Amino acid sequence: MIKIKASKIKELLASQAHPREVLVQGWVRTRRDSKGGFSFIEINDGSCLKGIQAVVDHSIASFKKCEAEITTGSCVAINGQLVVSEGKGQSVEIKVSAIKVYGTADPDKYPLQKKRHSFEFLREIAHLRPRTNTIGAVMRVRARLAFAIHRFFNDRDFIYLNTPIITASDCEGAGEMFQVTTLDLDKAPRNGGKIDYAQDFFGKKTSLTVSGQLEGEIYAMALSRIYTFGPTFRAENSNTKRHLAEFWMVEPEMAFYDLDDDMGLAEEFLQFLIRDVMENCADDLDFFNERIDKNLLANLNLVTGNEFERIRYTDAIHILKKSEEKFVYPVEWGCNLQSEHERHLVEKVFNKPVIIFNYPEDIKPFYMKMNEDGETVRAMDVLLPRLGEIIGGSQREDDLDALTARMKKLDVDTDEYWWYLDLRRYGSAPHAGFGLGFERLVQFVTGMENIRDVIPFPRTPNHASF
Ligand code: 4AD
Ligand code: MG
Repeated sequence: MIKIKASKIKELLASQAHPREVLVQGWVRTRRDSKGGFSFIEINDGSCLKGIQAVVDHSIASFKKCEAEITTGSCVAINGQLVVSEGKGQSVEIKVSAIKVYGTADPDKYPLQKKRHSFEFLREIAHLRPRTNTIGAVMRVRARLAFAIHRFFNDRDFIYLNTPIITASDCEGAGEMFQVTTLDLDKAPRNGGKIDYAQDFFGKKTSLTVSGQLEGEIYAMALSRIYTFGPTFRAENSNTKRHLAEFWMVEPEMAFYDLDDDMGLAEEFLQFLIRDVMENCADDLDFFNERIDKNLLANLNLVTGNEFERIRYTDAIHILKKSEEKFVYPVEWGCNLQSEHERHLVEKVFNKPVIIFNYPEDIKPFYMKMNEDGETVRAMDVLLPRLGEIIGGSQREDDLDALTARMKKLDVDTDEYWWYLDLRRYGSAPHAGFGLGFERLVQFVTGMENIRDVIPFPRTPNHASF
């Protein structure tokens, strides 16, 4: 082998400057031997969907040494000339001068054979599934989206803020928190019959965060515009295709924004992200459109090519009640919208993204700003085709008395949240923000059916392996 700077396959497939000497390192996808004394080996290194074809003359000395070890799944390095391919299906290929096997993969045991595997099966081998076309493409798109998110906010002078993962507050008030403790559960100390958290690690009861919003608000009240992008945790026992127990959320928070501004930013944000991946991950998206969801590109175009419809919750309820559709969950003013209702509005009624705003106060958390009607709050949800809710946000209550009253009504301890109330005591300002479920975004952009297949290692009820 000659040690030169290794090339990524993505770069070679796009290059015009052949012939030249190259070094490629990757995993063997397929191998075909010809009668004429040649082997055609397809190598993939994850840099792009396609692999590169390496043509090996069987008389090469290094090939003779490892010939039997070059099988699907083995890891190899190849030296050779990058040349114009005479075969079909690729413009360039490598005429191999030397080959080395880094790691073998016993063909009788390697679980990823050439056939198509179900996504359920692939979840059981989550340590090998990144080597499949689909999971590889998902992770490239996911990484690009993360980059685009930072670019969007950076371009608009938002400060990237890291909020805590361990917290003592329940932002959403839904009681879906995972507890964090170092107490020995078998002999936890008690005080008056109740567990004595004063003796726990933090001296109080703590959990994994469900949202960085409340801490985000603190920094927005000083830096004006911030965003968080981090892991969040919810012990929702819902085994659906849209829920994870551990997921990533992006939460911008903006001083001096009202609900309209908030909706405007959410729309601009989604359109920006989708345009960015359409431009930068075209091959992967074509693959998804072909193999995973034939409507994918059409759905993405619905987002980039339309102004989002904005309707009040009350109007949405009217539309749903008048509809002929048979819903599993009945619709009444005051109910939470189910995904079937959301999809009906997006896919059947408007045929484009929809933002529903001004929800009944009873179904929304304590921090949302009351409207003058006394029964709705300035909340908004962005709904997309196929998926339903992707973003939830609101204008925050910035008035001390109104916030205190609403917290009391919802039985939220005002002493615990003294710092949150202080923000309304000292230099309060109108402000708003939203949360984007990052995996829901990846799901939407790739057309993947199950959210468990768009995060490297899904955590769901009864599943925390790898
Ligand atoms: O609507 P949610 O609960 O809003 C909040 O957490 C606010 N604090 C956000 C804010 O205003 N800063 O969650 C926001 C988004 C949802 O729209 C959804 O996309 C996603 O997070 N999400 C989940 N994604 C995957 N698995 C789950 N269990 C999710 N729960 C919410
Ligand atoms: Mg929500």
